Amino acid sequence: MIAFINTDLDLGKRPIFRNLNLTIQPGELVYIVGRSGSGKTTLLKSLYMEVKPSKGEVIVNGLSSRGVRRRKIAMLRRKLGIVFQDFRLLEDRNVYDNLAFVLKVTGTKHSLIKEKVLTALKEVGLENSAKEMVENLSGGEQQRVAIARALVGNPIAIIADEPTGNLDPETSLEILEYLKKINDSGISVIIGTHDYELVRHHPSRTLMISDMNLVECTIEPAPTGTCWRPVPKATAKAS
Ligand SMILES: Nc1ncnc2c1ncn2[C@@H]1O[C@H](COP(=O)(O)OP(=O)(O)OP(=O)(O)O)[C@@H](O)[C@H]1O
Ligand SMILES: [Mg+2]
Repeated sequence: MIAFINTDLDLGKRPIFRNLNLTIQPGELVYIVGRSGSGKTTLLKSLYMEVKPSKGEVIVNGLSSRGVRRRKIAMLRRKLGIVFQDFRLLEDRNVYDNLAFVLKVTGTKHSLIKEKVLTALKEVGLENSAKEMVENLSGGEQQRVAIARALVGNPIAIIADEPTGNLDPETSLEILEYLKKINDSGISVIIGTHDYELVRHHPSRTLMISDMNLVECTIEPAPTGTCWRPVPKATAKAS
């Protein structure tokens, strides 16, 4: 479970969120949408406690940001699978090694590593690509490796910041389908995105950043009819 309680988030002196109150239940698929610079990345970073509240708290899987020690944050991050727009893979290693690396640093028994890596690769349809060098893969394939890497440690949640930002529309949809499948297996998935087309394809709880807060919204056609836009469901703040 994720909870923000009267939370202020700032970057340096810049206020990004004010008095945020929000709960995300285990197993939810949640989109965070909002204009560039509105704070999507900041919000996601606060979930893995790279950004800490200046007021209030964020609680993730029972761990409060209040006075939390670095060791506890490291333990929390092991339970979260994080996916970035730019993949952040070890490009000079093969696919297998990228996943095995995560398991090695978290002290997984050597005898279990191979099975866990191959299971995660299978989830994204890359079980036959274990020996491929990452630098030779397409963007979509690299993002699938990144998703498998996020999955390999059996996370409670996947946090994805613009996971389709560098991909064409068709590949983006494919990536979203993998994330949806992961969510169907019971893992929470939280996606920061401005790709409204994608949200339309797989509608789920959508939170729009507005006035340094989050509001529940739906994605609807803009009045011009040429694009989509988030429209608040009600004026009440998300809770
Ligand atoms: N280290 C920092 N110090 C001060 N301000 C920052 C810092 N990092 C980001 N910002 C500012 O904070 C605001 C929120 O940034 P954030 O990256 O969370 O937005 P975003 O919604 O993810 O944007 P994008 O869609 O472009 O990725 C932006 O105005 C940004 O310029
Ligand atoms: Mg961002």
